Amino acid sequence: MDKRFYVTTPIYYANGAPHVGHFVTTTAADVVARYYRQTIGNNNVFFTTGLDEHGTTVEQSAIKEGYNLKTIQKYVDKRAVEWKKAFEQTGISYNYFVRTTNPKHEEFAKQFIQKLIDNNDVYKSKYYGKYCNGCEKFLTLSDLNKEGYCPLHRPDQVVKVEEKNYFFKLSKYAPKVKKLILENKISIIPESKREEILSRLGGKIEDISISRPKEKVAWGIDFPNDSRQTCYVWIEALINYISSLEITDKKEFWLNAHHFLGKDISWFHNVIWPAMLLSAKYNLFKGTFIHSFVIISGEKISKSKGNIITPKELIEKYGVDGTRYVILSNFPYINDSDITWGHLTEKYNADLANGLGNLVSRVAKLCEQNDLALSSDTNVKPHVSYSSQQGGYHVHIERFEFNLALEEIWRDIKDLDVEISKNHPWDLSKEKAAQPLQKYARELINIAYALKPFLPETAEKIEKQFRGPKIKSEAPLFPRLPTGR
Ligand code: MSP
Repeated sequence: MDKRFYVTTPIYYANGAPHVGHFVTTTAADVVARYYRQTIGNNNVFFTTGLDEHGTTVEQSAIKEGYNLKTIQKYVDKRAVEWKKAFEQTGISYNYFVRTTNPKHEEFAKQFIQKLIDNNDVYKSKYYGKYCNGCEKFLTLSDLNKEGYCPLHRPDQVVKVEEKNYFFKLSKYAPKVKKLILENKISIIPESKREEILSRLGGKIEDISISRPKEKVAWGIDFPNDSRQTCYVWIEALINYISSLEITDKKEFWLNAHHFLGKDISWFHNVIWPAMLLSAKYNLFKGTFIHSFVIISGEKISKSKGNIITPKELIEKYGVDGTRYVILSNFPYINDSDITWGHLTEKYNADLANGLGNLVSRVAKLCEQNDLALSSDTNVKPHVSYSSQQGGYHVHIERFEFNLALEEIWRDIKDLDVEISKNHPWDLSKEKAAQPLQKYARELINIAYALKPFLPETAEKIEKQFRGPKIKSEAPLFPRLPTGR
């Protein structure tokens, strides 16, 4: 692989506080960023996340909270502080936090759109149809449910619009994009999501509107050469993936870009974005990783249903690493994943309190009783089995199969547990116990190394505990929790 890795999350609408769903993509991106920092070095990894701050949905929520067009910047500033804090509290190691109201992004986005215009790929026409304010999307017939509404948002979010807009010639580029996907020049993981896109590209592709009249959407960037129109928020938002590199002077990362996102916005990233890049004559990104959704007790997470789980609630209950673990071990790789509190707590107790936590306490206690320490020159390399087993830890992470990579580690945890129970070192003399105990301690450092991208704090604690001059018992890593909510 190239010696660089650029991973991005979608930029989230600055219209509310973050919920657990937003942490699915962000935590996944964080794991790969940490993993590649470990394997190819800190300077070769760049990881962005952040906020999409323009458009109707942001404008409407700001107005609901008493802001107006003149003060709305204050509203998004407040949201940015809130989101940054939430990401920092959950150990998200982003390199750059995107904000689309950054004037440098605004300027870059305008120049980018100008390139589409210069290339004769933009024309003025009339749009007539439905628009979902929640998705910020012009709806096609296939986007609508049986009742004629958006399946993701409240019916009052869908409005009929008839307006004169600028259009982008998506139809011109769709066959080229299809070819690039077929040739895997744009990789889409997993395969089922790739097929979905290819099948939709088999149908008729219409051009898309890329501006809105200012009287309808004022909170946006002015369209190039026409201040009566604002840039359609999605078009501007996608450009963040390049403007971030421009702003931070990291342009060299572009060819190694991997976009992580949920299934709801696959079309924008896999079809519209490459078409824009082709038109503006930019190189393409490497690929996308599309996951499904976490749902709660069988229902979509939604503000109006009030079934939101916030990152704060999760951290209060499970701690930072516990939260990362319950999210990643329930990762909605192909199908949606149901995360009721009871289910999360069960998983936490079984794998963290009992599994990993018990094993660490058990080995530490035995080492302490036997006055054992690892010699300081013990150099532990990542376990060979992680790469050689079928699938294997590394292969799973490189394919973004986080839950499977975790299963590999937990298999080692179980094996070590079984080995200790079989050998009962507690019955051995100090001299005889030394060798097996050294082996278990080394094995735990190995496990900690593999855990690092997933549970960074825990990995560090284990390393410290077992590498110090003396191995000592410590408080349990993960206190057992009462089951239920
Ligand atoms: N602003 C656009 C994205 C622009 S990217 C150039 C947007 N924002 S959003 O706030 O609606 O975030 C959507 C993303 O949040 C999804 O694609 C997904 O990555 C994440 N998730 C939101 N809810 C989720 C779940 N319930 N489960 C998993 N991920 C979810 O769309």
